Amino acid sequence: MQHMTESQEIEKEAEHLYKNLQRVGWSKEKCRSIAPITLEINRLKKELNAIILAHSYQTPDIIFGVADFVGDSFGLSKKAQQVNADIIVFAGVKFMAETAKILNPEKTVILPSLEAGCSLADSITGEDVRKLKAQYPNVPVVSYINTNVDVKAESDVICTSSNAAKIIKRLESDTVIFIPDMLMLKNLSAETGKKLIGWNGKCVVHEEFNIQHIQELKKLYPDIKILAHLECDPSVAMNADFVGSTSQMIEYVKKSPAKKFMLATECGLVERLKVEISPEKEFYGACLLCPYMKKITLENILESLLDPDDEQIIKVDKDIQVRALSALQKMFELSK
Ligand code: 13P
Ligand code: SF4
Repeated sequence: MQHMTESQEIEKEAEHLYKNLQRVGWSKEKCRSIAPITLEINRLKKELNAIILAHSYQTPDIIFGVADFVGDSFGLSKKAQQVNADIIVFAGVKFMAETAKILNPEKTVILPSLEAGCSLADSITGEDVRKLKAQYPNVPVVSYINTNVDVKAESDVICTSSNAAKIIKRLESDTVIFIPDMLMLKNLSAETGKKLIGWNGKCVVHEEFNIQHIQELKKLYPDIKILAHLECDPSVAMNADFVGSTSQMIEYVKKSPAKKFMLATECGLVERLKVEISPEKEFYGACLLCPYMKKITLENILESLLDPDDEQIIKVDKDIQVRALSALQKMFELSK
């Protein structure tokens, strides 16, 4: 069998990338420029028995060039439970990589950028949760998955935007501590009818969407479907046709017969959809970037696979891991 030359291999990879990425405006030349990097990452994955899990907000070169699985926080945590690989590289933010480590303490979990945090996760500490628990004894603590591991360890159950309402409703208590997203809390108290005690955390991306913007779009395009992430302000969520997680939004757009959509969430989701669905479906409205998600690049994925810095390798204390795992397992149980 004849082997391909290096330049033929690069050309073939560029073709493969271009097939998907041209739908989001990438030129053949730009695809050719990243082809050596995606080839090398994919080769290293095989050599090291590594897998790349990516959130839908990642850039399309990562999603369509090197990711093995793409999903929302819930889908990614379920996938992290099942992986056989020795190394998990997380193309997402720190709380997601930590969740993979909590679920797989024996595996090496790598986060390519130390700056990939989250405004919600960084709004609260384990100590803050201990104070809340002292203030409201016997009230169950439901923490959004967008929290650091010390907060998860203080929680009774974790939830994501795809199962938060279901989990809160299934708890016996009519009063629940729900942290740290205050806007999501407001959406959830309307949906569950329960008394929710919260924390003043906000997502720097979703807090920017506003009702005026939606009203203007509806006026311009009366048949537009508005989809909002559960992290949006209630005024936005209440005026949306659908509210949910990123994967639930993807499912809605794929199934909907409508042609025009506005997605009140991070730009990456629209880019992913533009590649995956018919170009007949069009997207309108503001495109907002998560500064944390965008810290992950093909270059730092490659570097972290080749020679990870100690800080890029996620570490969690055993005691904290065990307690956080119990709260995550409760989520899997209650979201069935
Ligand atoms: P999803 O779980 O819906 O993907 O949300 C994660 C997130 O960070 C939203 O900003
Ligand atoms: Fe955190 Fe918001 Fe970025 Fe999601 S979009 S990772 S909630 S800052």
